[in-house]
Amino acid sequence: MGKRKLIAALDVDSLDKALSLVDQLASHVGMFKVGMELYNAAGPEVVRQIRRRGGRVFLDLKLHDIPTTVARTTRVLTRLGVSILNIHAGGGLAMMQAAASAVQDEAAVQGIEPPQVIAVTVLTSMDEITLNTQLNIPGTVEEQVLRWTKLAQQAGLHGVVCSPLEIKTIRETCGPNFTIVTPGIRPAGSEKNDQRRVMTPAEAVKLGATYLVVGRPITAAENPAEAARAIVKEIESI
Ligand code: C5P
Repeated sequence: MGKRKLIAALDVDSLDKALSLVDQLASHVGMFKVGMELYNAAGPEVVRQIRRRGGRVFLDLKLHDIPTTVARTTRVLTRLGVSILNIHAGGGLAMMQAAASAVQDEAAVQGIEPPQVIAVTVLTSMDEITLNTQLNIPGTVEEQVLRWTKLAQQAGLHGVVCSPLEIKTIRETCGPNFTIVTPGIRPAGSEKNDQRRVMTPAEAVKLGATYLVVGRPITAAENPAEAARAIVKEIESI
C-alpha cells in the first residue's frame, strides 16, 4: 500500500504545530519524521504524543558520538517506541555496531519491535570540493556515499538515508531488503524550495526507494491531507 511508503516531515518548532499536522495527516501517511528542530523544541513528549495517536515515528537526530554514548542513547529512543532512528556512518563501524546491537537488546528487554537503525552518509549539502579539501576524503561524493553505505550494511544497519540520485546504485549494491529512505521528493509541478536535485514520488519508488520523506509539499499545502493523498495515489499508480 502506497501510504506505508510516505513519511511526512514535521519540520516545525512546537508541539502544538506538530500535533495539528499529525491530526490532519494521521490517516494519510505511514510515518512522521521528527527532526532535530522539533525534538529540541518539544522533547520526547512529541514522540509520545504521536505514538499515543497511533502514529509511527522516524526520529531523525543523526546521532554521532563515541560508541557507548550512541548505544545508550539508542536504548532510550527505542523505549520511546520509534520505528526508525538514524546515526552518522562517519562515526565508524564500531559506533554503528554498538547502536545496532543496543536497539535489538533493548527492544527484547522491553518486549517491543526493535526500531530500524539507518545511516546518514554524505549530507546532500556537501560537495566534492568540501569533501576533498576540508574533510580530506578523496574521490567523488557518490564514491563516499557508497563506501559508507557498505560500511553501514556490514555493521548490521537496516539501511540508509540518501538522495534520489543514489537510490538506484544503492539498491543494486545492497539488495532488495535494504531500507532506502529518500528526501528531495517533489510531486510534478510543485515548488522545489531549496532542494536542488529532486525527483517525483513515482520516479523514486520505481528506482527502489522504500520510504519517501516529504516535507513542504505536504506541510505548506493549503490542504495537507489532500496533498498527502495525491502523493499516495501517484505511488499506487505505478
Ligand atoms: O520540505 P522538504 O520536503 O524539502 O523536507 C525534506 C526533509 O528531509 C527535511 O526534514 C530535511 O531536513 C530532510 N533532508 C533533506 N535532504 C537530505 C537529508 C534530509 O531534505 N539530504
